[in-house]
Amino acid sequence: MAPRHFLTLLDLSKDELQTLIVRAIELKAMHKAGQCPQIFKNKVLAMIFEKSSTRTRVSFEAAMSQCGGSAMFLSPRDTQLGRGEPIEDTARVLSSMVDCVMVRTYAHETIELFAKYSKVPVINALTDMFHPCQLLADIQTYIEHRGSIQGKKVTWIGDGNNMCHSYMMAARQFDFSLAIATPAEYQPHADVVARAEDHASLYTDPVPAVTGADLVSTDVWASMGQEEEQAKRIQVFESYQVNSRLMSLAKPDALFMHCLPAHRGEEVSADVIDGPQSVVWEQAENRLHSQKALLEFLLITQAVTQ
Ligand code: CP
Ligand code: NVA
Repeated sequence: MAPRHFLTLLDLSKDELQTLIVRAIELKAMHKAGQCPQIFKNKVLAMIFEKSSTRTRVSFEAAMSQCGGSAMFLSPRDTQLGRGEPIEDTARVLSSMVDCVMVRTYAHETIELFAKYSKVPVINALTDMFHPCQLLADIQTYIEHRGSIQGKKVTWIGDGNNMCHSYMMAARQFDFSLAIATPAEYQPHADVVARAEDHASLYTDPVPAVTGADLVSTDVWASMGQEEEQAKRIQVFESYQVNSRLMSLAKPDALFMHCLPAHRGEEVSADVIDGPQSVVWEQAENRLHSQKALLEFLLITQAVTQ
């Protein structure tokens, strides 16, 4: 049987995602109680990072170690990938040796190609198009604070980037409505808008987008790989900063999220990210717990089902 992959949130069914979040909350409680179920004993995760990472690398590596398995960090600089070995060949070789491969890369097509040739599950740890692992943590965090996210109003402010695209897929899978405020030339890709079905609406003015929101989320204005556009983007995005004026338009109990790393004074003001509505630290911590649940689903649950 072909392995299940996690390249976007659409790779799991709505029911599978709900079950995964419940399990993430359970694994978190066990972790806090000092219990580490050894569910990944003898399992090995290979982690290919073509871009920098703090949270993703540490959370995946810690998840594997805490549950009895191991993870190895691979960068193009130190592997033959950086010297031009084809993705297909790398996928065939790695997947003959390890139980799961996590990839952070640029073009989404790269990870799709890797998955096509992999005999083991492949996890998207961020591409230019999607960052689905982050959304597992974000949804877990929302549910822990406010209960079900179904039917809620979520607002995305800033760049129509990989995180925005992932929120759009989450809106469809977890059944919330997503209001997206971006400058006109930085709107999300039209094909992703179409795949969000009727769950996403686009704005250029952040005011109507954020009014009455239950959750407000943003991200850096220049993502990894766009560093040379930083100065231009700071000008274009100036009126899209999530600050206390904008947050005051959301519901009084609205939460603020940011996948991190953040640039205080650019996409978010310091008083918002460090303020009482911000849940960014739990959001980051939940990467650990939700990815344990994801790894368990791909490595254990699927192996039993197949
Ligand atoms: N949010 C996130 O993926 O962070 P890192 O780039 O540090 O992994
Ligand atoms: N949009 C950001 C997310 C970082 C976790 C980037 O791609 O750099």
